[in-house]
Amino acid sequence: MKSRQWTWGSALIVGVALLSAWLLSSCASVDRSVVVPGKTPGATFVGNDQCSHCHTEYTDHFAETAHAKVRLKSPEQTGTIGCELCHGPGSKHVNSGGDWKETIVNPGKKPEACFQCHSGIRARFQLPHRHPVAEGQMNCVDCHNPHGKEIGKPAGGLAMARRNQTCAECHQEQTQSFVFEHEALREGCVVCHDVHGSPNPKMLQQADNNLCLRCHAQAPGPAAQPGQLFIGKVNHTTFVQQGACWSCHSSVHGSNINPRMRY
Ligand code: HEC
Ligand code: HEC
Ligand code: HEC
Ligand code: HEC
Ligand code: HEC
Ligand code: HEC
Ligand code: HEC
Ligand code: HEC
Repeated sequence: MKSRQWTWGSALIVGVALLSAWLLSSCASVDRSVVVPGKTPGATFVGNDQCSHCHTEYTDHFAETAHAKVRLKSPEQTGTIGCELCHGPGSKHVNSGGDWKETIVNPGKKPEACFQCHSGIRARFQLPHRHPVAEGQMNCVDCHNPHGKEIGKPAGGLAMARRNQTCAECHQEQTQSFVFEHEALREGCVVCHDVHGSPNPKMLQQADNNLCLRCHAQAPGPAAQPGQLFIGKVNHTTFVQQGACWSCHSSVHGSNINPRMRY
C-alpha cells in the first residue's frame, strides 16, 4: 500500500505544480492591459521614436522583447510607449539639455518600476527565503536583461549553455562542470529552486522528499514487497525514514567522485 501512496502522492504534487504554473502564467498574459503611471513629475510620454535619436542600441531591438507586446489601457499610448513602460514619461529627459540622470527613472536602481505591474513577484521577494532584492543588495537586472529577448529564460536551456548564464556569476560551486552530472540540472536551476523567493530553506520548490520524487518515484517492481520504496535498483524503504534525500545524496548538483552523488 505504501508504495502506491508514493505514486499517488507524487502524481498529486505534479498536478498541483502544473496548476500553479498555469495560474502564474495566466496572470502575466499578454492580454492584460496595464496603466503606466507618470513617475517623473511634470513629464509626459513622448514615445520610442524620441528615444531612438540617442539610444538606438535599445530601440532597434525593442520589438523582439517581451515587453513590446504589452498593451496599455489608454489606446493612444499603445504602439508608441515601450521604453516608457519602465522608464516613465520621458519628455523632461529628452528636453533636459544635458541633465540626463535626474530626469528619467532607472529601474536598475529601484525595482519599484517593475513591481507596479509584477505585484506577484513583489510578494515572492517578501517570503522568508529569497534573493536580497528588497534589501537593495541585488536587482532584477542581475538575472534579467530588460532590453534583451531572453528576459524570461535566464536559467533554462541546456547544461552547457546554462553554465555561462546568470546563476554562474555568483554560484560557481553549483554551476561548475562535474564528472558525474545530475541530469535534472539540464532543465535549469528552477526545477528545484524558486529563485524569487520561497517559504522553504534554500528557496527549494518543496521542502521534503517530494522535490526529488517528482522525477524519481516509480512503480514497485516485481522484486518489491508491499510497502517497499525502490528507487532505481536500490531499496530506499528504510533510507527515507532517515532524512531528506539530499542528506545522503549531498552533492545534489553533481559530483566529481561519486556517480550517485553521495559526496
Ligand atoms: C537627445 C538625446 C537623448 C534622448 C532623445 C533620450 N536620451 Fe536617454 N540619455 C541620453 C544621455 C546622453 C544619457 C546619459 C548617458 C550616460 O550617462 O552614459 C541618457 C541616459 C538615459 C538613462 C539612464 C539614466 C540614469 O539615471 O542612469 C535612461 C534610463 C534613458 N536615458 C532612457 C531614455 C528613454 C526611455 C528615452 C526616450 C523617452 C531617452 N532616454 C531619450 C540621451 C538621450
Ligand atoms: C522591462 C523594463 C524596461 C524597458 C521596457 C526598457 N528598459 Fe531601459 N532599463 C531598464 C532597466 C532595469 C535598466 C537598468 C539596467 C542596468 O542597470 O543594467 C535600464 C537601463 C536603461 C538605460 C541606461 C543604460 C545604462 O547603461 O546605464 C538606457 C539608456 C535605457 N534603459 C533605455 C531604454 C530604451 C531606449 C528603451 C526602449 C527601447 C528601454 N530602455 C526599455 C528597464 C527597461
Ligand atoms: C507596464 C507594466 C510592466 C512593467 C513596468 C514591467 N513589466 Fe515585465 N511584463 C509585463 C507584462 C504584461 C508581461 C507579459 C508579457 C508576455 O506574456 O509576453 C511581462 C513579462 C515579463 C517577463 C517574462 C517574459 C517572458 O518571456 O515570459 C519578465 C522576466 C519581466 N516581465 C520582467 C520585468 C522586469 C525585470 C521589469 C522591470 C525592469 C518589468 N518586467 C517591468 C508588464 C510589465
Ligand atoms: C536570482 C535571479 C533572479 C532575480 C534577482 C529576479 N529574477 Fe525573475 N526570474 C528568474 C528566473 C530563473 C526566472 C524563470 C523562472 C521559471 O522559468 O520558472 C524568472 C522569471 C520571471 C518572470 C516570469 C515568470 C514569472 O514567474 O512570472 C517575471 C515576470 C520575473 N522573473 C520578474 C522579475 C522581477 C520584476 C525581478 C526584480 C524585482 C526579478 N524577476 C528578479 C530569476 C530572477
Ligand atoms: C548577482 C549575484 C547572484 C546571482 C546572479 C544569483 N544569485 Fe543566488 N544568491 C545570491 C545571494 C547574495 C544570495 C543570498 C545569500 C544569503 O542570503 O546568505 C543567494 C542565495 C541563493 C540560494 C539560497 C542559498 C541559501 O543558502 O539559502 C539559492 C538556492 C540561489 N541563490 C540560487 C540561485 C539561482 C538558481 C540563480 C540563477 C537563476 C541565482 N541564485 C543567481 C546571489 C546571486
Ligand atoms: C535536483 C534539484 C536541484 C537543482 C536542479 C538545483 N539545486 Fe540547488 N539545491 C538543491 C538542494 C536539495 C539544496 C539544499 C542542499 C542542502 O541543504 O544541503 C540546494 C542548495 C543550493 C544552494 C545553497 C548551497 C549551500 O551550501 O547552502 C545554492 C546556492 C544552489 N542550490 C544553487 C543552485 C544553482 C545555481 C542551480 C542550477 C545550476 C541549482 N541549485 C540547481 C537542489 C537542486
Ligand atoms: C527534473 C527531474 C529530476 C529531479 C527533480 C531530480 N532528479 Fe535526480 N535525476 C534525474 C535524471 C533524469 C537522472 C538521470 C537518469 C536516472 O538515473 O534516473 C537523475 C539521476 C539521479 C541520481 C543518480 C542515479 C544514477 O543511477 O546514477 C541520483 C542519486 C539522483 N538523481 C538524486 C536526486 C535527488 C536527491 C533529487 C532531489 C534533490 C533529485 N534527484 C531530483 C532527474 C531528476
Ligand atoms: C540514508 C541515505 C539515503 C537516503 C535518505 C536516500 N538515498 Fe538514494 N541511495 C542511497 C544509497 C546508499 C544508494 C546506492 C548507492 C550506490 O549504489 O553507490 C542510493 C541510490 C540512489 C539512486 C540510484 C539508484 C540506482 O538504481 O542505482 C537514486 C536515483 C537515489 N538513490 C535517489 C534518492 C532519492 C530520490 C531519495 C529521496 C526520496 C534518496 N535517494 C534518499 C542512500 C540514500
